[in-house]
Amino acid sequence: MGKAQTRWGPYTNMKSLAESGPTIITRADGVYVYDDRGRQYIDGHGGLWLANIGYGRREIIDAIAQQAEALAWFPSFGGFANEPSLRLADRLIELLRPDGMAHVMFSNDGSESVETALKIARQYWKVQGLAHKYKYITRHHAYHGVTMGALSVQGIAENRIEFEPLLPGVVHVAAPYRNHCGMHPESSVCTFACARAVEEAILTQGADSVAAFIAEPVQAAGGVILPPSDYLRQVREICRRYDVLFIADEVVTGFGRLGSWFGSRHYGIQPDIMTMAKGITSGYVPLGATAVSENIFRTFLNMPVAGPEFRHGNTYSGHPLAAAAALANIQILEREALPEHARKMGVLLQKALQDVQQRHLEWVVDANAEGLLGRIELRDPSGQMQAGELGAAMAKHMYDLGVIVRPLGDVVTFSPPLVISEQQIAQMVAISEEALTLVQAHGG
Ligand SMILES: Cc1ncc(COP(=O)(O)O)c(C=O)c1O
Repeated sequence: MGKAQTRWGPYTNMKSLAESGPTIITRADGVYVYDDRGRQYIDGHGGLWLANIGYGRREIIDAIAQQAEALAWFPSFGGFANEPSLRLADRLIELLRPDGMAHVMFSNDGSESVETALKIARQYWKVQGLAHKYKYITRHHAYHGVTMGALSVQGIAENRIEFEPLLPGVVHVAAPYRNHCGMHPESSVCTFACARAVEEAILTQGADSVAAFIAEPVQAAGGVILPPSDYLRQVREICRRYDVLFIADEVVTGFGRLGSWFGSRHYGIQPDIMTMAKGITSGYVPLGATAVSENIFRTFLNMPVAGPEFRHGNTYSGHPLAAAAALANIQILEREALPEHARKMGVLLQKALQDVQQRHLEWVVDANAEGLLGRIELRDPSGQMQAGELGAAMAKHMYDLGVIVRPLGDVVTFSPPLVISEQQIAQMVAISEEALTLVQAHGG
């Protein structure tokens, strides 16, 4: 209890925590986490969308320890570097070459990787004499982080409102939210009106004023919004046509989550800039990364300046312990073919969730998964429970039954470690159904 009072928890209702106290997780192994009372939970949310290789992997712990003994820290500003960060940059670019990336800058988390991308996009146009090209287009329900720039391009209004005014020149357009689509009410056939909304925004603002469009390949914190399969290709093409940079925020979708190494590849696009964090180390040490195309890097390199071309960098950019963790993490993802495993397990997760929907059609309005990113969206046919509270009610019952998931409004989201087995998926979804039955019977 005392811990809850002095620590101000992130995205936490401290008043209700004062009564219950936090759940203190003391250890973890594979897909399981354990609290200080010895209770075991399946981590159905992968520690906030990211514990891709699973918990407690000896290999990664050893890699961090060895690096700490050799060199725990030295900065990379100016002319300095450390070996693991150089090796990691090479390794990442090798991985990202099919996605059109050629250089990478490190930071500490997803917000910073997005902040870096937004600044690169502005300066990219400025150094070409196009300073008026400064606006960003983003989507409703987007989550890109909490720093002021990243927050400005968030599309979740509740997260933004208390901090306004934010960056000027940010335009929000419709998300590709299939089961909430109001863009073609006459027909249930997708007309890709949401992709055209990006074009309309560019034209309304004036293409010569728009620096970049930013998108998560799948909008995770917005409620796991899975786009129609051709949406990103269409938007990519629109951005190219109007000289607008495409920033793919791969903080959740990178490193195998969708059953491909990266979300951009999964949906068949090459962005100009990619942001990464979370699954890059599976959470063993915090790390963010922003990768750019050769064209963007060259544009900065050609600047006639004596000092840094890009006046940006976090103290801990390329932290040796984070780099060592990322290298070991990538090695495990590759050796165990975890993106491929996620694709196979994702098919099972999708089927299992959709079977739950079929058995509870009145209560489940949508159930789906792409790789190991899943969703189940609820409504109360009796109208007794308030809209927006159903996800939390179901997640609470799941927690009591031994599965941790993340509720977002009326959606319960799934993002388990990629090492999850067929049997563990079955157990996780069976517990979801049991929790749903409890919601139906008793509410929250
Ligand atoms: C797509 C996306 N981008 C950026 C972020 C911000 O990352 P962080 O919380 O590490 O700053 C998140 C966090 O969930 C995210 O989901």
